[in-house]
Amino acid sequence: MDLAKPSTHANLEAAFGGESMANRKYLFFADVAKQLGDAQLAKLFRDTAAQETEHAFAHFRLLHPELVVTDPDSVDGPQKQAILRRCLELAIEGETYEYTTMYPEFADQARQDRDGDAEAEFNEQTAESKEHAGIFRKAASNFGLLTPIEHHHADRYGVALQALEGNGVAGETPDPLPGQWICKVCSMIYDPAVGDPDSGIAPGTPFEAIPEDWKCPICGARKASFVPYHSPELLPA
Ligand SMILES: [Fe+2]
Ligand SMILES: [Fe+2]
Repeated sequence: MDLAKPSTHANLEAAFGGESMANRKYLFFADVAKQLGDAQLAKLFRDTAAQETEHAFAHFRLLHPELVVTDPDSVDGPQKQAILRRCLELAIEGETYEYTTMYPEFADQARQDRDGDAEAEFNEQTAESKEHAGIFRKAASNFGLLTPIEHHHADRYGVALQALEGNGVAGETPDPLPGQWICKVCSMIYDPAVGDPDSGIAPGTPFEAIPEDWKCPICGARKASFVPYHSPELLPA
């Protein structure tokens, strides 16, 4: 594979993206089928999703031959270190892009689109534009909530990279961050200063004061799925 050919390189990236997306989409469809009681269709979606994962991995191996381990026994210490470091570097790169660029820009755009739609609604009074404005509002809020999550992911990988390089062990701050709680399912971080205005939780509301029927605004997990947030930290070995 000549990766100097930019079109094939770009196509491999696109194919990896497409297969990865198909995998998650089919898992979503499997959930839908399961909820609607069609276990057989749910299984078909799950099985196909697993195959899409293999397709995605095949593309990724061509994109990153430096990460392909064919015979683990023949990999010596320094090679193992280099491969794992590369995985962590790529992971940090992706998460950092998400929290510094992608989600902040998406959130800005969704806010602008919502305002545009709200104006259209004012002019036309159509139910559809009202619905769009609601979706954009929710999108802006989700993008905003995802920004600290991706930051948290990048930090966790950064700590793992430091640990890999022998600078300590990956761990967490012994004390939780004051007032902050994290969803065990999706890593949404509840910050009392921000609250969850979309769900009627005003800024300044401590987590303990949130009603028990409140749900995670990202993944819908129950309040009981949240635990006090300890941020990732490198601990002495
Ligand atoms: Fe992430
Ligand atoms: Fe969640």
